[in-house]
Amino acid sequence: MVNDRRPRVLSGIQPTSGSFHLGNYLGAVRQWSAMQETHDAFYMVVDLHAITIQQEPEQLRANTRQAAAQLLAAGLDPERCTIFLQSHVPEHTQLSWIMECIAGFGEASRMTQFKDKSAKQGSDRTSVGLFTYPLLMVSDILIYQADQVPVGEDQRQHIELTRNLAERFNSRYGKAFTVPEPYILKETAKIYDLQDPSVKMSKSASTPKGIINLLDEPKVSAKKIKSAVTDTGSEIRFDEQEKPGISNLLTIYSTLTDTSIAELETRYEGKGYGALKTDLSEIVADWAGPFRERTQEYLDDPETLDSLLAKGAEKARSVAAETLAQAYDKVGFLPAKH
Ligand code: TYM
Repeated sequence: MVNDRRPRVLSGIQPTSGSFHLGNYLGAVRQWSAMQETHDAFYMVVDLHAITIQQEPEQLRANTRQAAAQLLAAGLDPERCTIFLQSHVPEHTQLSWIMECIAGFGEASRMTQFKDKSAKQGSDRTSVGLFTYPLLMVSDILIYQADQVPVGEDQRQHIELTRNLAERFNSRYGKAFTVPEPYILKETAKIYDLQDPSVKMSKSASTPKGIINLLDEPKVSAKKIKSAVTDTGSEIRFDEQEKPGISNLLTIYSTLTDTSIAELETRYEGKGYGALKTDLSEIVADWAGPFRERTQEYLDDPETLDSLLAKGAEKARSVAAETLAQAYDKVGFLPAKH
């Protein structure tokens, strides 16, 4: 590995719903944008992962473009990072097979996201792909020799698995992979559902009122903030145990405005929950409006979007192909040509 290169970062997001939600943005994408300044950054839309759950083809195509457009609207700059679609780089799935062969069945069975999702769907409706999903994610990361992986808390176990498999491969076959670190910001590691602050904000939320979709009408999002569930009492204080609802709103407020929680506590001293919610609803709407417009501008020009993704894929493939060739060689596969 060359020593003088910037540390490398890789992350991905699913195009399974038309819009990202505030948890995706604050937990992950916001960090991606910051890290493109300091890292050699690779960011992708994981369309292969999306089909672990049945997708309607036309909808998947639309959602994938929409996801890419949102990444650009969130500030990712193709001049400063590599943006691409996972399905454009076949090396990911090729490496994934090797990872499937060195991972234990029990080890894969312990992945909590798989256990939760498959329990909800029942085993007949659970695809084999959902089970092997984490191993494709392992390959996504290792194939770029990523040093860091910026994600939310819910992905931590998958990164642990990645570390374990990288170490296992390296000790069994000789060093081929960088062992990556998770990059999870404590403050925004888990953004909670507005209607039930005991669970994370998620596209599979029990009510749409609990989740802020970035592409919703800003007015709709403002209303959701105003009707967020808050706690007993009236004091505005960050306390995740006693005041999970208010703490979640403070986290969102603090991150979107770059203001410390302590400063917000002082600012709202003696004021009620209503004042905080009214202000935050405006902040969210003011942020989401321009985001929505920027996304639409990228979507209005699909040719430019597609060509930008093609360029990203080309760059990603050159790195991925090199790692794959090295891994194939270590495993003992003969080269196809000399
Ligand atoms: P996905 O598409 O579910 O989510 C994208 C990112 O958003 C984060 N996130 C949250 N962060 C804080 N609070 C929340 N409520 C919240 N909800 C979601 C996720 O942690 C994630 O970082 N398996 C991944 C995609 C993936 C990937 C990869 C990530 C595929 N290959 C390689 C990193 C590296 C996923 O389903 O993310």
